Amino acid sequence: MHHLLDIASLSDDDLGMLLTLGQDLYEHRIPDPQIKGWLATLFYEPSTRTRCSFTIAARRLGMEVLNLDMATSSAQKGEDLLDTVRTLLAMGVTTVAVRHPENRVMQALSSMHPLRVINAGDGTRAHPTQALGDALVMRGAWGHDLTGRHIVICGNIQHSRVARSHLALLPRLGAVVHFVPDNDDPLDLTGPYTRHKTLPDILPDADAIMMLRVQKERMAVMPDLSRYLNDFGLKEEDAKRLKSGALIMHPGPFNRNVEIASALVDHPASVIQNQVAAGVAIRMAILAGV
Ligand code: CP
Repeated sequence: MHHLLDIASLSDDDLGMLLTLGQDLYEHRIPDPQIKGWLATLFYEPSTRTRCSFTIAARRLGMEVLNLDMATSSAQKGEDLLDTVRTLLAMGVTTVAVRHPENRVMQALSSMHPLRVINAGDGTRAHPTQALGDALVMRGAWGHDLTGRHIVICGNIQHSRVARSHLALLPRLGAVVHFVPDNDDPLDLTGPYTRHKTLPDILPDADAIMMLRVQKERMAVMPDLSRYLNDFGLKEEDAKRLKSGALIMHPGPFNRNVEIASALVDHPASVIQNQVAAGVAIRMAILAGV
């Protein structure tokens, strides 16, 4: 059999052999010992860093990777996330990395035994792999000890899953979290943190200053972005108030001259690209099952 165009063009011999071989593979599914599992990435929101680093991490570990393009997948025909994942599980996918705009999808996915589910960012709730990777960068800078370090997270805190995951992580590592939100609204965050009105209030004490992108996709009312750097962003004169050795961080993607002055992205104190590199390492550790 060379082509398979339709059933009518199959000879009886081809049909018999095909069904026999197919039955054997179906009933005695033999895993390829060279492959350490299949990772599928399902990103219902855009991504560069997280998705690419999951792909690189998985391939470095000898896994095969399926990067589903949600714009051309059966999600476009109305299939929901759980059914898409069930479909992948039936094909032999062992791990899914999922990014989704809603806050409550991970719990439902995690009940699909024996599938491993890794949260690649859900709604405003959590982005654990980002926070863990960022912690690697801080640990590397500070002798693997974050005790008593002051981490200032600044910008669009209310809509930030990165801020929430850092609030869950950093105090457990001994660090002190400070938030400088970009408006006066109450924050619905639980955890030990101190809130500040403006960056200059806290900058001289910061061991790390982490700026956040304006999460336009989650906001009903947009701030004036032409004024954002001046009103809430990290400017070059602010960086001069940082103590020696302080780190400039951003989980990315960053918008130059909106939340952070362009020159500070490339400043000697900036570890933004280190955060990207650490993202591959931590995702390897997670996929390795540690
Ligand atoms: N930090 C982060 O999640 O970046 P991406 O949206 O590019 O994955």
